[in-house]
Amino acid sequence: METKKVMLSGIKPSGSLTLGSYLGAIRNWKDRAKEFDCYYFLADLHAITVRQNPADLRRCTMEQLAQYIACGLDPEKNTLFIQSHVHQHAELGWVLNCYAMFGELSRMTQFKDKSAKNADNINGGLFTYPALMAADILLYQPDLVPVGDDQRQHVELTRDIAIRFNHLYGDTFKVPEPYIPKVGARIRSLANPEAKMSKSENDDPGRVTLMDSPDTIMRLFKRAVTDCDACVRYDPENKKGVSNLMTIYAACSGKSFPEIEAEFEGRGYGDFKLAVGEAVVELLRPIREEASRLLMDRSYLETVCKNGAEKAEYIANKTLRKVYKKVGFVAKFN
Ligand code: TRP
Repeated sequence: METKKVMLSGIKPSGSLTLGSYLGAIRNWKDRAKEFDCYYFLADLHAITVRQNPADLRRCTMEQLAQYIACGLDPEKNTLFIQSHVHQHAELGWVLNCYAMFGELSRMTQFKDKSAKNADNINGGLFTYPALMAADILLYQPDLVPVGDDQRQHVELTRDIAIRFNHLYGDTFKVPEPYIPKVGARIRSLANPEAKMSKSENDDPGRVTLMDSPDTIMRLFKRAVTDCDACVRYDPENKKGVSNLMTIYAACSGKSFPEIEAEFEGRGYGDFKLAVGEAVVELLRPIREEASRLLMDRSYLETVCKNGAEKAEYIANKTLRKVYKKVGFVAKFN
């Protein structure tokens, strides 16, 4: 039997998923399971490198799990789990901290950015986060790690740590490849089409989340920034707002840009915005309804977490035992 390649990715439970991340990425994830053995975890250990409200973090973690399942990540076909449920992450994270160099960690651009943004809380975790991320990855011996551009440097460091460890102790870790997934649509903020649709700011009028009500969605689209020449034409240089709305409409309806231009020929932006809003409402309706239904079904979500963590722990533990042995820890006496 041919074994599938292993793919693993972590998701930070921070704020609701947006239309932008759905159309740009998550929408395609369900198809990966055909080709790969996929692991996805909610990275709650990583989340606390910046201050979190405990109740919000707990709620957010379960909400995101429900939302990912509603987006098509089938727990029967993918291993979905919560990072803190598999204690091997923290344990290997510590070990790998001892194989990640201060200089390397200092060069991480995300650390520099985040410490600039959180000047009052530049904690050790923020600094050593890439060693934990390396542990997240190497525990499962994956072939591929799909990440956005901003995480590429961390995957490179993971490779360096794996190579260093293998060199010192003999083959232990598979050296993974970063995998920059082909992006679906690149969606920008409705309020500021210069910027991408961000996920973290609350009450951002430029952002549509998967859980927004139809009323909210329509309101956001009616207010979307366009321009003053009242012509629906794709021109991402000069007509960023309109082109962004066309991209969203195309992604929802499957229509091409010329088809959309023809459809709205001679009609104003008012009609166009309504049509885009309605298309988004219909696209998100089943996802929102399914996510809400799942959230009410606590025992189902708990079973998903339990089964996912059990499966993950089995693999993670094998790697951790190997590592503990290699570095010279005395095996536990039974
Ligand atoms: N650092 C990633 C982010 O900020 C999340 C993450 C944590 C991750 N551990 C990972 C991604 C392991 C891929 C693999 O988005």
